[in-house]
Amino acid sequence: MEIIKSTAEAQHLADTIRNSGRLIGLVPTMGALHKGHLALIDAVSEQVDVTILTIFVNPTQFGPNEDFNRYPRQLEADIQLAESVDADYLFCPEVSDMYPGGELTQVQVSGLPDHLCGLSRPGHFTGVTTVVAKLFNILKPHVAIFGEKDMQQAIIIKKMVRDLNFDVRILTLPIVREADGLAMSSRNQYLSHEDRIQAVKLFQSLNFAKEMVLTGEKHVEVIREAMTRFITGGTSAVIDYVSFADPDTLDDLSELPAGSQVLIALAVKFGSTRLIDNLMVKVPQFQD
Ligand code: PAF
Repeated sequence: MEIIKSTAEAQHLADTIRNSGRLIGLVPTMGALHKGHLALIDAVSEQVDVTILTIFVNPTQFGPNEDFNRYPRQLEADIQLAESVDADYLFCPEVSDMYPGGELTQVQVSGLPDHLCGLSRPGHFTGVTTVVAKLFNILKPHVAIFGEKDMQQAIIIKKMVRDLNFDVRILTLPIVREADGLAMSSRNQYLSHEDRIQAVKLFQSLNFAKEMVLTGEKHVEVIREAMTRFITGGTSAVIDYVSFADPDTLDDLSELPAGSQVLIALAVKFGSTRLIDNLMVKVPQFQD
């Protein structure tokens, strides 16, 4: 795997690959790689000739009181992991190269960020869409892949691609989970031993919410109440949100329309560690 640090070099590389008629696949990450990231690399490399992994802890998507400074940076370990799979290039630019001073033009998708994580992380998704747009322009991928743990992010990026006619196909990959069901995340390493044990309740609560939906419960408040009680009972967990949303608009639902797809998404804090998880469920058509 070849490592590229400068944006100019990366642009030149992408041009050379494109001009030789080969397909470029992009896996944008912030590093602290885990099996979820490796699955993204595997999945995209099956579809393209050249796979480019990026590692960039993007400052513009972190709020002032968030974990930008302590976000895990472990480049050497990441390089070893990436070399164990099929990544051809690693692009890991410096902040000063990606944002060389002055005012920054931003890419802001409207509407979709005003829900779920966007409510407690103002500006986060503008930081994400801006840096992803920059990565698309620098690396000119034919295909880019994102994990479904960050489902809102994936939905917003797809919208940006449609709205701005980016010539890239967006793939998403289902959440990769630990053996007990906890969604893999670079932030899991912040959890204390006790919180790590309790964190599995997030996935368990999503599963029983799905079961409640499948057995006919249509009132979101009833399900949300049960999930909240389960997650917070005997733990230090603080709920940020538990939301039942239309997966196209991300609008919050209070009644679940029969036959529709619903995104059940949650964000929960254990101390200063904020975890997210989600699953999609199809509401059954019951006769009343
Ligand atoms: O999902 C992430 O790791 C980041 O939000 C991304 C897409 C790499 C942009 O910084």
